[in-house]
Amino acid sequence: MLESLRTERLVLRRWRESDRLPFRAMNADARVMEHFPAPLSPAESDALMARAEAHFAQHGFGPFAAELRETSEFIGFIGLSVPAFDAPFMPAVEIGWRLAFEHWGKGLASEGARAALAFGFGELNLEEVVSFTVPANLRSRRVMERLGMTRDPTDDFDHPNLPPDHPLRRHVLYRISR
Ligand SMILES: CC(C)(COP(=O)(O)OP(=O)(O)OC[C@H]1O[C@@H](n2cnc3c(N)ncnc32)[C@H](O)[C@@H]1OP(=O)(O)O)[C@@H](O)C(=O)NCCC(=O)NCCS
Repeated sequence: MLESLRTERLVLRRWRESDRLPFRAMNADARVMEHFPAPLSPAESDALMARAEAHFAQHGFGPFAAELRETSEFIGFIGLSVPAFDAPFMPAVEIGWRLAFEHWGKGLASEGARAALAFGFGELNLEEVVSFTVPANLRSRRVMERLGMTRDPTDDFDHPNLPPDHPLRRHVLYRISR
């Protein structure tokens, strides 16, 4: 199993206990969680961290903890995962990212995601990687586009974990093939 990836400015690595508090702070930040149903409680954040590590154990890859090489500071996650819900595009591997607010606008998400994609195609031999978000999450959609991912509007879908009348239910899907 691959334990870490390095880019010019980032180390993408397995999770550590020392990530717990900065991850809680990031997930409690309403700016970071604007396009999700709600900020996460400490318990919800801890559960997400546990799921990320469990994903590595189950699949041999997963959402990496992202650390700045210069300072060793934990800044969020970037990586591949298998969505835990059913949808028309499944089975699939998704690429996702979430960074602490003060690290936006520097190209770090795109830099890390490019390395994660190269790992997915080069080492895991994936045929395709998808990514999805709500239509209003333009920052995340721009990352998808910078990676060369494309959207076919006929792939848009309703997230099954949200109730039918929920304003965040509709999602756009982007794909890239190897
Ligand atoms: C989605 C998210 C990771 C995007 O972060 P980001 O910093 O905007 O994305 P990038 O790493 O691609 O950076 C691009 C920005 O950095 C700027 N930039 C600065 N230096 C750069 C460099 N060396 N290389 C590339 N871009 C650079 C770009 O101009 C761009 O800024 P702009 O959009 O204001 O023009 C971040 O907004 C986030 O964590 N959001 C909350 C969680 C979330 O919604 N996740 C996705 C759910 S699907």
